[in-house]
Amino acid sequence: MKKIVILPGDGIGKEVTGWAQKALQEVSEFYGLSFVFEEALIGHSAIEAVGNPLPDDTLEACRTADAVLLGAVGHPMYDQDTTLKVRPEQGLLKIRKELGLYANIRPIRIFDELLDASSLKPEVLRGADILFFRELTGGIYFGHRERRDQGNTALDTLLYTRKEIERIAVKAFEAARTRRGILHSVDKANVLESSRLWRETIQQLAVQYPDVTVHHIYVDNAAMQLIKDPRQFDVVVTENMFGDILTDEASQIAGSLGMLPSASIGDKTGLYEPVHGSAPDIAGKGIANPMAAILSAALLLDISFGQKEAADAIIQAVDRVLKRGYRTGDIANAQTPKDKIAGTQAIGEMILHEMHFSHPLI
Ligand code: IPM
Ligand code: MG
Repeated sequence: MKKIVILPGDGIGKEVTGWAQKALQEVSEFYGLSFVFEEALIGHSAIEAVGNPLPDDTLEACRTADAVLLGAVGHPMYDQDTTLKVRPEQGLLKIRKELGLYANIRPIRIFDELLDASSLKPEVLRGADILFFRELTGGIYFGHRERRDQGNTALDTLLYTRKEIERIAVKAFEAARTRRGILHSVDKANVLESSRLWRETIQQLAVQYPDVTVHHIYVDNAAMQLIKDPRQFDVVVTENMFGDILTDEASQIAGSLGMLPSASIGDKTGLYEPVHGSAPDIAGKGIANPMAAILSAALLLDISFGQKEAADAIIQAVDRVLKRGYRTGDIANAQTPKDKIAGTQAIGEMILHEMHFSHPLI
Protein backbone atom coordinates (compact mmCIF):
# COMPACT_ATOMS: atom_id res chain seq x y z
CA MET A 1 0.00 0.00 0.00
CA LYS A 2 1.51 3.31 -1.11
CA LYS A 3 0.43 6.64 0.29
CA ILE A 4 0.15 9.46 -2.23
CA VAL A 5 -0.50 12.97 -0.93
CA ILE A 6 -2.47 15.19 -3.31
CA LEU A 7 -1.88 18.94 -3.06
CA PRO A 8 -4.25 20.61 -5.55
CA GLY A 9 -3.14 24.13 -4.51
CA ASP A 10 -4.65 27.03 -6.42
CA GLY A 11 -6.27 28.06 -9.69
CA ILE A 12 -6.19 25.40 -12.40
CA GLY A 13 -4.17 23.20 -10.01
CA LYS A 14 -7.53 22.36 -8.41
CA GLU A 15 -9.02 21.51 -11.81
CA VAL A 16 -6.28 19.23 -13.16
CA THR A 17 -5.00 17.31 -10.13
CA GLY A 18 -8.14 15.22 -9.74
CA TRP A 19 -7.63 13.82 -13.26
CA ALA A 20 -4.06 12.82 -12.42
CA GLN A 21 -5.36 11.05 -9.32
CA LYS A 22 -8.02 9.25 -11.37
CA ALA A 23 -5.36 8.14 -13.86
CA LEU A 24 -3.35 6.65 -10.98
CA GLN A 25 -6.44 4.86 -9.71
CA GLU A 26 -7.19 3.52 -13.16
CA VAL A 27 -3.72 2.01 -13.72
CA SER A 28 -3.52 0.66 -10.19
CA GLU A 29 -6.26 -1.86 -11.01
CA PHE A 30 -4.38 -3.31 -13.99
CA TYR A 31 -0.97 -3.44 -12.36
CA GLY A 32 -2.02 -4.68 -8.96
CA LEU A 33 -0.88 -1.52 -7.23
CA SER A 34 -2.62 -0.27 -4.18
CA PHE A 35 -2.74 3.43 -3.41
CA VAL A 36 -4.23 5.44 -0.60
CA PHE A 37 -4.72 9.12 -1.32
CA GLU A 38 -4.66 11.94 1.20
CA GLU A 39 -5.45 15.53 0.25
CA ALA A 40 -3.87 18.56 1.91
CA LEU A 41 -3.65 22.34 1.53
CA ILE A 42 -0.88 24.44 0.02
CA GLY A 43 -0.50 27.95 -1.43
CA HIS A 44 -3.20 30.62 -1.44
CA SER A 45 -5.89 28.07 -0.52
CA ALA A 46 -3.90 27.25 2.62
CA ILE A 47 -3.35 30.93 3.42
CA GLU A 48 -7.10 31.52 3.16
CA ALA A 49 -7.93 28.49 5.31
CA VAL A 50 -5.27 28.66 8.01
CA GLY A 51 -3.06 31.69 7.28
CA ASN A 52 -0.02 29.60 6.28
CA PRO A 53 1.02 28.64 2.69
CA LEU A 54 2.45 25.34 3.98
CA PRO A 55 0.59 24.22 7.11
CA ASP A 56 2.44 21.86 9.46
CA ASP A 57 -0.01 19.02 8.88
CA THR A 58 0.53 19.27 5.10
CA LEU A 59 4.26 18.99 5.59
CA GLU A 60 3.84 16.09 8.00
CA ALA A 61 1.53 14.26 5.55
CA CYS A 62 4.14 14.72 2.78
CA ARG A 63 7.02 13.53 4.93
CA THR A 64 5.27 10.24 5.59
CA ALA A 65 4.06 9.82 1.98
CA ASP A 66 5.55 7.57 -0.69
CA ALA A 67 4.98 10.32 -3.27
CA VAL A 68 3.36 13.74 -3.57
CA LEU A 69 1.29 15.03 -6.49
CA LEU A 70 0.94 18.80 -6.65
CA GLY A 71 -1.23 21.05 -8.85
CA ALA A 72 -0.01 24.65 -8.78
CA VAL A 73 0.25 27.58 -6.40
CA GLY A 74 -0.36 31.29 -6.92
CA HIS A 75 -3.06 33.95 -6.94
CA PRO A 76 -3.23 37.29 -8.78
CA MET A 77 -3.98 39.30 -5.61
CA TYR A 78 -0.31 38.99 -4.63
CA ASP A 79 0.81 40.47 -7.95
CA GLN A 80 -0.96 43.74 -7.17
CA ASP A 81 0.54 44.15 -3.71
CA THR A 82 4.30 43.61 -3.45
CA THR A 83 4.30 44.39 0.29
CA LEU A 84 2.38 41.23 1.30
CA LYS A 85 4.67 39.18 3.50
CA VAL A 86 2.83 35.84 3.30
CA ARG A 87 2.71 34.55 -0.29
CA PRO A 88 1.54 31.27 -1.90
CA GLU A 89 4.91 30.55 -3.56
CA GLN A 90 6.57 30.39 -0.13
CA GLY A 91 4.63 27.16 0.42
CA LEU A 92 6.09 25.62 -2.72
CA LEU A 93 9.66 26.74 -1.96
CA LYS A 94 9.37 25.49 1.61
CA ILE A 95 8.09 22.05 0.66
CA ARG A 96 10.91 21.68 -1.90
CA LYS A 97 13.46 22.63 0.76
CA GLU A 98 11.94 20.58 3.60
CA LEU A 99 11.67 17.41 1.50
CA GLY A 100 15.20 17.96 0.16
CA LEU A 101 13.99 17.95 -3.46
CA TYR A 102 17.16 19.25 -5.02
CA ALA A 103 16.70 17.78 -8.50
CA ASN A 104 13.85 18.99 -10.67
CA ILE A 105 13.54 16.83 -13.77
CA ARG A 106 11.62 18.25 -16.71
CA PRO A 107 11.41 16.03 -19.81
CA ILE A 108 10.75 17.98 -23.02
CA ARG A 109 9.36 15.88 -25.82
CA ILE A 110 6.82 16.60 -28.49
CA PHE A 111 3.99 14.23 -29.35
CA ASP A 112 3.98 13.97 -33.17
CA GLU A 113 0.36 15.09 -33.27
CA LEU A 114 1.32 18.42 -31.71
CA LEU A 115 3.99 19.41 -34.22
CA ASP A 116 1.61 22.09 -35.50
CA ALA A 117 0.59 23.36 -32.06
CA SER A 118 3.85 25.11 -31.28
CA SER A 119 4.75 28.50 -32.67
CA LEU A 120 8.05 26.90 -33.72
CA LYS A 121 8.36 25.17 -37.10
CA PRO A 122 7.55 21.42 -37.14
CA GLU A 123 10.80 20.63 -38.99
CA VAL A 124 12.78 22.24 -36.16
CA LEU A 125 10.86 20.33 -33.48
CA ARG A 126 10.46 16.84 -34.92
CA GLY A 127 12.37 14.33 -32.79
CA ALA A 128 13.43 16.83 -30.10
CA ASP A 129 13.93 15.03 -26.78
CA ILE A 130 15.55 16.94 -23.94
CA LEU A 131 15.85 16.07 -20.27
CA PHE A 132 16.32 19.10 -18.04
CA PHE A 133 17.86 18.86 -14.58
CA ARG A 134 17.11 22.07 -12.73
CA GLU A 135 18.75 22.54 -9.31
CA LEU A 136 15.80 23.24 -7.02
CA THR A 137 16.82 23.99 -3.44
CA GLY A 138 19.67 26.47 -3.80
CA GLY A 139 20.76 29.59 -5.62
CA ILE A 140 18.96 32.92 -5.67
CA TYR A 141 15.62 31.31 -4.77
CA PHE A 142 16.95 30.54 -1.30
CA GLY A 143 19.54 33.28 -0.78
CA HIS A 144 19.46 36.13 1.69
CA ARG A 145 17.06 38.94 0.71
CA GLU A 146 17.01 42.40 2.12
CA ARG A 147 15.81 45.97 1.69
CA ARG A 148 18.17 48.75 2.67
CA ASP A 149 18.22 52.50 2.44
CA GLN A 150 14.61 53.03 3.59
CA GLY A 151 13.44 50.45 1.10
CA ASN A 152 15.17 52.07 -1.87
CA THR A 153 17.83 49.39 -2.29
CA ALA A 154 17.09 45.66 -2.56
CA LEU A 155 19.31 42.63 -2.69
CA ASP A 156 19.01 38.88 -3.35
CA THR A 157 22.05 36.70 -2.95
CA LEU A 158 22.96 33.77 -5.19
CA LEU A 159 24.93 31.17 -3.27
CA TYR A 160 25.98 27.62 -4.22
CA THR A 161 28.18 25.12 -2.46
CA ARG A 162 30.26 22.58 -4.37
CA LYS A 163 28.25 19.80 -2.73
CA GLU A 164 24.94 21.23 -3.98
CA ILE A 165 26.30 21.43 -7.51
CA GLU A 166 27.82 17.97 -7.40
CA ARG A 167 24.67 16.11 -6.34
CA ILE A 168 22.50 17.54 -9.13
CA ALA A 169 25.32 17.12 -11.64
CA VAL A 170 25.73 13.44 -10.73
CA LYS A 171 22.03 12.88 -11.47
CA ALA A 172 22.42 14.59 -14.85
CA PHE A 173 25.59 12.68 -15.79
CA GLU A 174 23.98 9.38 -14.81
CA ALA A 175 20.95 10.17 -16.98
CA ALA A 176 23.12 11.28 -19.91
CA ARG A 177 24.96 7.97 -20.02
CA THR A 178 21.67 6.10 -20.44
CA ARG A 179 20.63 8.39 -23.31
CA ARG A 180 22.65 9.96 -26.13
CA GLY A 181 25.60 10.77 -23.85
CA ILE A 182 25.48 14.53 -24.35
CA LEU A 183 25.35 16.92 -21.39
CA HIS A 184 24.95 20.68 -21.69
CA SER A 185 25.80 22.51 -18.48
CA VAL A 186 24.29 25.98 -18.55
CA ASP A 187 25.91 28.82 -16.60
CA LYS A 188 27.00 32.44 -16.80
CA ALA A 189 30.64 31.82 -15.92
CA ASN A 190 31.80 34.89 -17.87
CA VAL A 191 30.14 37.06 -15.20
CA LEU A 192 29.10 35.18 -12.05
CA GLU A 193 31.42 33.66 -9.44
CA SER A 194 28.78 31.07 -8.53
CA SER A 195 28.77 30.01 -12.19
CA ARG A 196 32.56 29.65 -12.17
CA LEU A 197 32.23 27.24 -9.22
CA TRP A 198 29.44 25.50 -11.13
CA ARG A 199 31.64 25.04 -14.22
CA GLU A 200 34.67 23.95 -12.21
CA THR A 201 32.59 21.32 -10.40
CA ILE A 202 31.13 19.97 -13.65
CA GLN A 203 34.61 19.83 -15.23
CA GLN A 204 35.96 17.83 -12.30
CA LEU A 205 33.05 15.37 -12.35
CA ALA A 206 33.33 14.94 -16.12
CA VAL A 207 36.55 12.96 -15.62
CA GLN A 208 34.49 10.17 -14.04
CA TYR A 209 32.12 10.09 -17.04
CA PRO A 210 34.34 9.65 -20.11
CA ASP A 211 31.30 8.29 -21.98
CA VAL A 212 29.49 11.64 -21.65
CA THR A 213 30.37 14.58 -23.90
CA VAL A 214 30.08 17.79 -21.89
CA HIS A 215 29.35 21.20 -23.38
CA HIS A 216 29.52 24.29 -21.19
CA ILE A 217 27.17 26.90 -22.52
CA TYR A 218 26.25 30.40 -21.33
CA VAL A 219 22.61 30.84 -20.41
CA ASP A 220 21.95 33.58 -22.97
CA ASN A 221 23.33 31.39 -25.74
CA ALA A 222 21.37 28.38 -24.40
CA ALA A 223 18.14 30.40 -24.60
CA MET A 224 18.86 31.12 -28.24
CA GLN A 225 20.10 27.62 -29.21
CA LEU A 226 17.05 25.98 -27.63
CA ILE A 227 14.67 27.46 -30.15
CA LYS A 228 17.16 27.59 -33.02
CA ASP A 229 17.96 23.88 -32.93
CA PRO A 230 16.47 21.97 -29.97
CA ARG A 231 17.67 18.60 -31.30
CA GLN A 232 21.29 19.38 -30.42
CA PHE A 233 20.35 18.98 -26.72
CA ASP A 234 20.09 15.69 -24.84
CA VAL A 235 20.51 16.28 -21.10
CA VAL A 236 20.75 19.84 -19.73
CA VAL A 237 21.82 20.69 -16.18
CA THR A 238 21.54 24.14 -14.69
CA GLU A 239 21.00 26.18 -11.55
CA ASN A 240 17.64 27.08 -10.09
CA MET A 241 16.64 30.34 -11.77
CA PHE A 242 18.21 29.61 -15.17
CA GLY A 243 16.30 26.31 -15.11
CA ASP A 244 13.04 28.03 -14.24
CA ILE A 245 13.36 30.39 -17.20
CA LEU A 246 14.73 27.94 -19.76
CA THR A 247 12.09 25.28 -19.07
CA ASP A 248 9.23 27.72 -19.67
CA GLU A 249 10.91 28.54 -22.96
CA ALA A 250 11.43 24.85 -23.70
CA SER A 251 7.72 24.20 -23.16
CA GLN A 252 7.25 25.55 -26.68
CA ILE A 253 9.33 22.62 -27.91
CA ALA A 254 6.66 20.36 -26.35
CA GLY A 255 3.86 22.38 -27.95
CA SER A 256 2.54 24.06 -24.82
CA LEU A 257 3.23 24.62 -21.14
CA GLY A 258 0.05 22.59 -20.64
CA MET A 259 1.92 19.46 -21.79
CA LEU A 260 4.95 19.56 -19.47
CA PRO A 261 5.21 17.32 -16.42
CA SER A 262 7.96 17.48 -13.82
CA ALA A 263 9.48 15.39 -11.07
CA SER A 264 11.27 16.82 -8.07
CA ILE A 265 13.42 14.30 -6.33
CA GLY A 266 15.90 14.17 -3.50
CA ASP A 267 16.87 11.37 -1.27
CA LYS A 268 13.39 10.30 -0.19
CA THR A 269 9.82 11.24 -1.17
CA GLY A 270 9.44 12.56 -4.72
CA LEU A 271 7.05 15.36 -5.66
CA TYR A 272 5.39 15.52 -9.07
CA GLU A 273 3.79 18.58 -10.60
CA PRO A 274 2.97 20.12 -13.95
CA VAL A 275 5.41 22.86 -14.97
CA HIS A 276 2.54 25.30 -15.57
CA GLY A 277 1.34 27.58 -12.80
CA SER A 278 -2.11 28.33 -11.38
CA ALA A 279 -3.07 30.23 -14.59
CA PRO A 280 -5.56 32.67 -13.02
CA ASP A 281 -6.55 33.93 -16.48
CA ILE A 282 -8.22 30.61 -17.33
CA ALA A 283 -8.95 29.26 -13.82
CA GLY A 284 -12.57 28.30 -13.15
CA LYS A 285 -13.46 28.13 -16.84
CA GLY A 286 -13.04 24.37 -17.23
CA ILE A 287 -10.65 24.77 -20.16
CA ALA A 288 -7.27 23.98 -18.55
CA ASN A 289 -5.18 21.23 -20.13
CA PRO A 290 -5.02 18.29 -17.68
CA MET A 291 -2.30 16.51 -19.68
CA ALA A 292 0.71 17.99 -17.83
CA ALA A 293 -0.78 16.85 -14.50
CA ILE A 294 -1.68 13.42 -15.89
CA LEU A 295 1.80 13.02 -17.39
CA SER A 296 3.21 14.01 -13.97
CA ALA A 297 1.32 11.03 -12.55
CA ALA A 298 3.10 8.89 -15.16
CA LEU A 299 6.46 10.26 -13.99
CA LEU A 300 5.47 9.44 -10.41
CA LEU A 301 4.80 5.81 -11.31
CA ASP A 302 8.03 5.55 -13.23
CA ILE A 303 10.45 7.34 -10.89
CA SER A 304 9.05 6.81 -7.38
CA PHE A 305 7.50 3.36 -7.84
CA GLY A 306 9.57 1.89 -10.71
CA GLN A 307 6.34 1.09 -12.62
CA LYS A 308 7.48 1.91 -16.14
CA GLU A 309 4.75 -0.10 -17.87
CA ALA A 310 2.00 1.59 -15.87
CA ALA A 311 3.57 4.96 -16.68
CA ASP A 312 3.65 4.09 -20.38
CA ALA A 313 -0.03 3.10 -20.26
CA ILE A 314 -0.84 6.67 -19.19
CA ILE A 315 1.42 8.26 -21.81
CA GLN A 316 -0.09 6.09 -24.55
CA ALA A 317 -3.62 7.02 -23.50
CA VAL A 318 -2.71 10.71 -23.78
CA ASP A 319 -1.19 10.02 -27.18
CA ARG A 320 -4.33 8.26 -28.41
CA VAL A 321 -6.58 11.13 -27.37
CA LEU A 322 -4.30 13.50 -29.28
CA LYS A 323 -4.36 11.15 -32.29
CA ARG A 324 -8.15 11.28 -32.25
CA GLY A 325 -7.80 15.04 -32.69
CA TYR A 326 -9.02 16.22 -29.29
CA ARG A 327 -7.28 19.32 -27.92
CA THR A 328 -7.64 21.82 -25.12
CA GLY A 329 -7.39 25.40 -26.38
CA ASP A 330 -3.67 25.77 -25.60
CA ILE A 331 -2.71 23.00 -28.06
CA ALA A 332 -5.36 23.55 -30.71
CA ASN A 333 -4.36 24.93 -34.06
CA ALA A 334 -6.92 26.99 -35.92
CA GLN A 335 -5.26 25.97 -39.19
CA THR A 336 -5.76 22.27 -38.51
CA PRO A 337 -9.38 21.39 -39.32
CA LYS A 338 -9.23 18.00 -37.62
CA ASP A 339 -8.60 19.62 -34.21
CA LYS A 340 -11.62 19.26 -31.95
CA ILE A 341 -11.56 21.60 -28.97
CA ALA A 342 -12.61 20.10 -25.67
CA GLY A 343 -12.57 21.18 -22.04
CA THR A 344 -10.69 19.78 -19.04
CA GLN A 345 -13.38 17.29 -18.07
CA ALA A 346 -13.95 15.92 -21.57
CA ILE A 347 -10.20 15.47 -22.15
CA GLY A 348 -9.77 13.90 -18.70
CA GLU A 349 -12.60 11.46 -19.33
CA MET A 350 -11.28 10.54 -22.77
CA ILE A 351 -7.85 9.76 -21.36
CA LEU A 352 -9.39 7.54 -18.66
CA HIS A 353 -11.55 5.87 -21.28
CA GLU A 354 -8.51 5.15 -23.43
CA MET A 355 -6.70 3.73 -20.44
CA HIS A 356 -9.63 1.54 -19.59
CA PHE A 357 -10.56 0.18 -23.00
CA SER A 358 -7.30 0.16 -24.92
CA HIS A 359 -5.24 -1.27 -22.17
CA PRO A 360 -2.35 -3.48 -23.35
CA LEU A 361 -3.35 -6.18 -20.87
CA ILE A 362 -6.92 -6.51 -22.13
C1 IPM B 1 8.06 26.59 -11.36
C2 IPM B 1 7.34 27.83 -10.91
C3 IPM B 1 7.80 28.20 -9.51
C4 IPM B 1 9.29 28.44 -9.57
C5 IPM B 1 7.07 29.40 -8.87
C6 IPM B 1 5.58 29.18 -8.81
C7 IPM B 1 7.63 29.76 -7.53
O1 IPM B 1 7.53 28.87 -11.81
O2 IPM B 1 7.93 25.55 -10.69
O3 IPM B 1 8.74 26.64 -12.39
O4 IPM B 1 9.73 29.56 -9.93
O5 IPM B 1 10.05 27.53 -9.26
MG1 MG C 1 8.58 28.31 -13.57
